[in-house]
Amino acid sequence: MLYGVLSGHEDDPGASALALRLMGAVHRIVLRGDAPELARHYPSAGGRPRNPWPAFLDTVRVYADALRRLLDDPVQTNETARCAGLLGGFLEIARRTRLPLRLLEVGASAGLNLRFDSYRYELGDERWGPADSDVVLRSRLTGRPPLDGPIRVVARAGCDARPVDPRSEEGRLTLAAYVWADQVERLERLSAALTVAGRVDAPVERARAAEWTADRLAEPADGAVSVVFHSIVMQYLPVAEREHFETALQDARGPLAWLRMEPQDERVTSLRLTLWPAGDELLLARVGYHGDPVEWLAPTG
Ligand SMILES: C[S@@+](CC[C@H](N)C(=O)[O-])C[C@H]1O[C@@H](n2cnc3c(N)ncnc32)[C@H](O)[C@@H]1O
Repeated sequence: MLYGVLSGHEDDPGASALALRLMGAVHRIVLRGDAPELARHYPSAGGRPRNPWPAFLDTVRVYADALRRLLDDPVQTNETARCAGLLGGFLEIARRTRLPLRLLEVGASAGLNLRFDSYRYELGDERWGPADSDVVLRSRLTGRPPLDGPIRVVARAGCDARPVDPRSEEGRLTLAAYVWADQVERLERLSAALTVAGRVDAPVERARAAEWTADRLAEPADGAVSVVFHSIVMQYLPVAEREHFETALQDARGPLAWLRMEPQDERVTSLRLTLWPAGDELLLARVGYHGDPVEWLAPTG
């Protein structure tokens, strides 16, 4: 079955998402335009699924060698919709510090969320961001994030263990391939975010979270608050690296914010903020994994 493509992967850990890696690898071939028969069943390529199995098997047979190589790559995604939750956190930091923001994202993937202020938000009845943005993020909202206050981003940078270049053909293909082929709305949002990425600079270095954060925080912030943030990243860090990362935050000098959107349970993430020098932790919101809904919890005032 599957022409031996999965041979050798019998003991891959569940967390390595073998099924998604296989589907992503086949999707990549479809999006590249190399499997026209199968593309007729893929909504992401303008098709409609009607008994795709024979064409799927045929594609696996023809591209077996390429698929075996692609299976070595981990799943790599960058979900812009998470900005619907992160936005309130950035605004809360601006409101509390009254300083411009120097953004430092760890596990940034392609860095799409470093451009959060270029996107339009429709959160419940609230609106935020440029009305003519290519990216429109819609979420249900309860509570009141501080959407009225001013905010200014003066620097953006990120790191990732395996960064994706959103301005290269390969990078764009990688991000699209790991979105399920029938999630057309998500693919459209990704495509719009990639357009924004072509205009707004936000370099993502190949580096590991802890070391990169310590190095960046040793640099002067020039009157800005350094905002270290991440979404759905910490589970990928070994315990020792996570500890090293948190030590880098504790040891930093100058105004510092740590904003994180990480799993609370299988259904929802929690958005938490720690601001130094005080260092108290605040639970700001509960947010769906893809930014919907946003349940804002922190008092506005
Ligand atoms: C699930 S993705 C989330 C990407 C992005 N934060 C988002 O919300 O769309 C997790 C990311 O963490 C990165 N990553 C994993 N371990 C890392 C490490 N030790 N240091 C930096 N990045 C890491 C992965 O390469 C991947 O891009």
